[in-house]
Amino acid sequence: MNFRRFGLMFLSVLILTAGSLRADEGMWMLPLIQKLNSKTMSGMGFKLSAKDIYDINNSSLKDAILHFGGGCTAEIISKDALVLTNHHCGFGTIQKLSTVDHDYLQNGYFAKNRDEELPAKGLTVIFLDRIEDVTKAVTDAMDAAKDPKAKEEAFRTVSDQLTAKAVGDSKFLRARVSSFFGDNQYYMVVSKTYSDIRFVGAPPASIGKFGGETDNWMWPRHTGDFSMFRIYADKDNNPAEYSKDNVPYKPKKFLTISLKGVNQNDPAMIIGYPGRTNRFMTSYEVKETSEVSNAVTILVRGVRQGIIWADMEADPKVRLQYSSKYAGSANSWKKSLGMNETFAKLKVYERRAAEEKIFSEWVVANPTRAEKYGKALADVKAAIEGRAKLQYISRFYMEALSSIELTSAATRLGPQVERAPREGRGGPGGAGAAGGRGFFQMNPSDFYKDYNVATDIKVAKALIKLFRDKVPASDLPNFYKTIDTNFAGNVDAYVDNMFSTSVFTSEEKLKAAQAGDKKLMESDPALVAGRDISASFMKYSMELEKYRTQYASGQKLYIAGMLEMKAGQAIYPDANSTMRMTYGRILNYSPKDGVIYDYITTLDGVMQKENPKNYEFTVPAKLKELYEAKDFGQYAMKDGRMPVAFLSNNDITGGNSGSPVMNAKGELIGTAFDGNWESMSSDIIFEPLLQRTISVDIRYTLFIMDKFGGAGYLLNEMKLVK
Ligand code: ARG
Repeated sequence: MNFRRFGLMFLSVLILTAGSLRADEGMWMLPLIQKLNSKTMSGMGFKLSAKDIYDINNSSLKDAILHFGGGCTAEIISKDALVLTNHHCGFGTIQKLSTVDHDYLQNGYFAKNRDEELPAKGLTVIFLDRIEDVTKAVTDAMDAAKDPKAKEEAFRTVSDQLTAKAVGDSKFLRARVSSFFGDNQYYMVVSKTYSDIRFVGAPPASIGKFGGETDNWMWPRHTGDFSMFRIYADKDNNPAEYSKDNVPYKPKKFLTISLKGVNQNDPAMIIGYPGRTNRFMTSYEVKETSEVSNAVTILVRGVRQGIIWADMEADPKVRLQYSSKYAGSANSWKKSLGMNETFAKLKVYERRAAEEKIFSEWVVANPTRAEKYGKALADVKAAIEGRAKLQYISRFYMEALSSIELTSAATRLGPQVERAPREGRGGPGGAGAAGGRGFFQMNPSDFYKDYNVATDIKVAKALIKLFRDKVPASDLPNFYKTIDTNFAGNVDAYVDNMFSTSVFTSEEKLKAAQAGDKKLMESDPALVAGRDISASFMKYSMELEKYRTQYASGQKLYIAGMLEMKAGQAIYPDANSTMRMTYGRILNYSPKDGVIYDYITTLDGVMQKENPKNYEFTVPAKLKELYEAKDFGQYAMKDGRMPVAFLSNNDITGGNSGSPVMNAKGELIGTAFDGNWESMSSDIIFEPLLQRTISVDIRYTLFIMDKFGGAGYLLNEMKLVK
């Protein structure tokens, strides 16, 4: 009884404070800082004006911060455009540059001079030029259109006009219009992309990924999760494709680095590119996310990862080949697990249902509001409930059948089927998807370099069986009939036959097949199955589309209503891969009764976790020597210990990886790389008591670069304050 009472009280306190002006919660848009945040920030001790952070006429902090490789953030830390990001953000690039003989993932790498900086083909960084509110132009155009199709068309037309005008005759600027607050507001983002990026250095994985998947999403943490790159430009400082004549880019702004360290309660701000949050998610979607999306991900990835992990442990070549794929998969798998656990622990479903009740009461209390918002939640609910089965099946296709490498590679490397031009999804509700074409192209050597047939055979057998067990018989793709008729229902026999007869198992066989009669490839069993899988998957995706309009219009109304209900409060839009700022402080936390987690970890903890028998916890000999000798140079804390990672209560999500953590003056103190286990539900509800950002202390980064990596010469181009 008591417990229930407490539960209810706890709930109502949370509801009352939700959305109120809190320093820790919020991914704020840069042009609105003056209006929404400056006062609170200076009250907390920040010494920066809104214009120090974002100014379109003068250089400001935003000019030192980059969208890195599409999914991460990075910052410029020297006058010669040295770029700092996470090890896990550089991971794919470092792996591509590695071979078993020159394994930069395993051994680390630091260029000893500019000539040794390695061109990172395909990697780009994006600068933010400016961001403009275009809500009026876009909504005027869309309001004039009648049905959803016409509205999408109107959106495309008006955004083409706006972006063309913004770019003008610049050869280098790009612009796009993004939706905010569930299509209630629109902003145009103007940016510039540089594509000659070179790899400067990174520690070995035993530092950059210390703790591996075991420690991922966890505190206390001891990972030196950083890597360094450099931006090159043509002689006019403009973007250019790789050329040995290119020179280091001259940045408008680079971050000053503070060696002063961090203390409990110090102000800390982060600027970067958070990918996606769903802070307006309804209880219906919370249920769907946990019971459908996360559940399927957890189940399927658990099976697939078990197989891949065993092969990685058994063979260093496979470990290198699959390390990046594995890390990506395991990261989401663990996030789904943690999210479901935290949903339950923090009563996320119940809290959302309670908020919806308050909203509904507010709506019906006034006839105008009832007219405007009466359908909002009902539409969301109907769409989510209506799509339940489709969502489950298509999730299963995506997680299971689409992750068999042979069949999906066959559809990309084999003869292409003519496709009707797909309708752009860049419109309202879409994140501004890029054209579909590139997706179907694949470079054969890139694929085969990281492909191990034996592993894929095991994965295929397990996932084809799992899919048959979990998906209704009427929703299985056609190749299951082949399994039944030609292989008496024996999946193993079917898979063995497919792998022994397909030409897609190696680059040599593929080349030979391409040189011969191409028609023969049409009957290749892997291509047949691959096309079968993608056609069925497409069918379910199209059916899901039907619910999208209803969902989007319900969500748009719900968010509009919430904004009206909370008018006067500072409210931020969901993350959508545009640049944001979050401010808060260095802060410990209590994960459970009687336990307090300190806000900082040190090299002592690395030594405590050391386990030479487990490659996730191996400590390199040289690091041990430095530790024994206490050879920490200018990077040690006052008490002589070597800092590694720290906590702050900033509000970040995936995409923020690599973001600069800055002190009250905007000096760099660390690089954000993770969230703690308790923040796995933070994409939906931010929980100030428990959720923390985990960052590498800049002193550890520089110590590893200098003392461990022997790249102290890089300090000469940086600006350090002590
Ligand atoms: N959890 C981190 C994030 O998504 C990524 C950490 C990568 N490290 C790893 N061991 N997989 O931001």
